[in-house]
Amino acid sequence: MSRQPRALVVVAAALAALVGAMSGADATVEATCMAAVESDQRVNFGVCTSELGKHRDSPDADTWGLAKVAANVGVSSAGGAVNDVDALLAARPPPDAKEAELLRRCRKVFFDMELAFAGAYDEINARNYTAGKLVAAEGANLVRRCGGGFADAGLLTPPLIEQRGAYAMEIATICTAITNLIKP
Ligand SMILES: *[C@@H]1O[C@H](CO)[C@@H](O)[C@H](O)[C@H]1NC(C)=O
Repeated sequence: MSRQPRALVVVAAALAALVGAMSGADATVEATCMAAVESDQRVNFGVCTSELGKHRDSPDADTWGLAKVAANVGVSSAGGAVNDVDALLAARPPPDAKEAELLRRCRKVFFDMELAFAGAYDEINARNYTAGKLVAAEGANLVRRCGGGFADAGLLTPPLIEQRGAYAMEIATICTAITNLIKP
């Protein structure tokens, strides 16, 4: 046996051991997230496995089911972001007029993302993958609109909003990548 195939055999054996060590449901999540990373390097493997792994619908879900789980996680992530913006708007002392206007713009962005994820869920459920394939592109535009407002005004995006936007974007990327893995 030459060196190269031998190395491949070792890697394959290590992978098989890794997959074998995982339980059935986790193995599906891990394998799907691994395939998602392979198809799109922007997919964060850690976020993918932890978010999908802890969802109650993930055990026994196939690729189609996991795409729906990702859309669901997106709905809660964007919804949480809307709540955070509301809390910032209601803070005492209140944000000044300019900052409040920018926060309201971000609120609309996160609300639109929530709707996009909910729409993606419904479409994927109906085995129409258009919305799921678009959710990352849509999310990127939306998140840019939120942060861009602060940048244009020479202000720093509040860190919580920045984080929420980045996280919703990670979920959107995961949702799109997994939707692309579904064999129709
Ligand atoms: C599929 O989803 C897209 C995006 O939500 C929608 O515009 C389109 O009408 C849907 N197609 C069908 C056949 O339902």
